[in-house]
Amino acid sequence: MPTALIVLAAGQGTRMNSELPKVLHQLGGAPLLVHALKSGASIGAERTVVVVGHGGEDVAKAARDWDPDVHVVEQVDRNGTAHAVDQARAALADFAGDVVVLYGDTPFIRSETIESMIDARTKNAVVVLGFEARDPARYGRLVLSGDRLEKIVEFKDATPEERAITLCNSGVICADREVLFDLISAVGNDNAAGEYYLTDIVGLAVDRGLSATAVTCQESETMGVNSRADLSAAEAALQSAMRAEAMECGVTLIAPDTVHFAHDTVIGRDTVVEPNVVFGTGVTIESGARIRSFSHLEGCHVSRGATVGPFARLRPGAELAEDVHVGNFVEIKNALIDEGAKVNHLSYIGDASVGEKSNIGAGTITCNYDGVFKHRTTIGKRVFIGSNTMLVAPVSVGDDAMTASGAVIVRDVPAGDMAIARADQVNKTGLGKRLMDKLRARKAAKN
Ligand code: UD1
Ligand code: CA
Repeated sequence: MPTALIVLAAGQGTRMNSELPKVLHQLGGAPLLVHALKSGASIGAERTVVVVGHGGEDVAKAARDWDPDVHVVEQVDRNGTAHAVDQARAALADFAGDVVVLYGDTPFIRSETIESMIDARTKNAVVVLGFEARDPARYGRLVLSGDRLEKIVEFKDATPEERAITLCNSGVICADREVLFDLISAVGNDNAAGEYYLTDIVGLAVDRGLSATAVTCQESETMGVNSRADLSAAEAALQSAMRAEAMECGVTLIAPDTVHFAHDTVIGRDTVVEPNVVFGTGVTIESGARIRSFSHLEGCHVSRGATVGPFARLRPGAELAEDVHVGNFVEIKNALIDEGAKVNHLSYIGDASVGEKSNIGAGTITCNYDGVFKHRTTIGKRVFIGSNTMLVAPVSVGDDAMTASGAVIVRDVPAGDMAIARADQVNKTGLGKRLMDKLRARKAAKN
């Protein structure tokens, strides 16, 4: 049965106290909204509708950046969750199948959980995701009779007996598209909040002789973000889950609590990550690599057996082939470092390629930017770049060539040549000692 997804993302998130819409705050480097879209994508949803608030252009853009095919609809007035879902009616008018409703501020719903809801849907018209709340607080309560779900009561409208129920509504609901929108048409707003509650569709379904049921999950999955404190708690939860998963997949984390992952970090087996490493988005590391302490990686690929750091920075487009060594205080951006090449100390390699087995001496800089344009540096195979070489791009150094230490290379170096580009050295006989003696005498006279 095909499945469609509706993600509610119209809330302002007042308690975030932010210019940014709540669902655009980031978790593991991706907007909260993207986490909800990811859970939906992993069940293979055929159509996704994101309900944004009035003027939700930024939210719409974030949704489309993640998936250009999403439908974005606007909820101008915020009249409740049923009203929000109703905004997706037209976008799903020709869709036949189940619809799953998720919240854009609830990032941890697992695809397995959604799948078990879809399974339960075959025997029930409406399936709700519930959880046993440690502190049920203001959640909607699930009223059961046996394993049948009778209705959902919002906290504000609940009797003391109903408030004593600890099985709560996560907000995730699954129903057949046609049934869902029929039921929503019947939802009224005669309640404590004066809102159209999506939760009312359960009671309405049961009144019509349809069956409803609850699937349950861990409370941790239903964690929503309403404040900066919630956001930091969610980040901590994401990080600890990612660390556990990395270790389970055979990655050694020497001090797991000090390693920070992005939502999409991929690391191969037998790679060792030393303490205090930060992964930005878009990083893939193959097997058997070593990422040493205090390195920062983003948008890059590190191949098998390579070592990075300590204190290295790999920026977007850095591509390290097998057995490459990148050492301390080295920054690499938009550059391919080919097999077995070494950039071990204090260098900037940007908009460049370095051929296999080449060695880049300490303090080498690719001068890639002329103030307006960026230019490329091409270094061949088995090249030896002397320490403190400035490579003023666009420039190339051929295979097996060398540059002398301190060279400022402004013209191409042919294969096999040695480029010396610095003023000739002059030694003035005895001047060093004479000058020093004079300076010391001057200091003594002063005291
Ligand atoms: C809702 C549920 C409650 C459940 C709780 C779980 C209803 C009536 N109540 O309550 O049973 O326990 O979530 O967190 O559904 N939204 C819109 N447009 C609206 C209203 C809401 O897009 O007009 C979005 C919000 O941005 C949010 C989500 O829907 O992402 C839930 O809305 P919220 O107001 O937080 O619902 P709760 O009162 O917490
Ligand atoms: Ca809420």
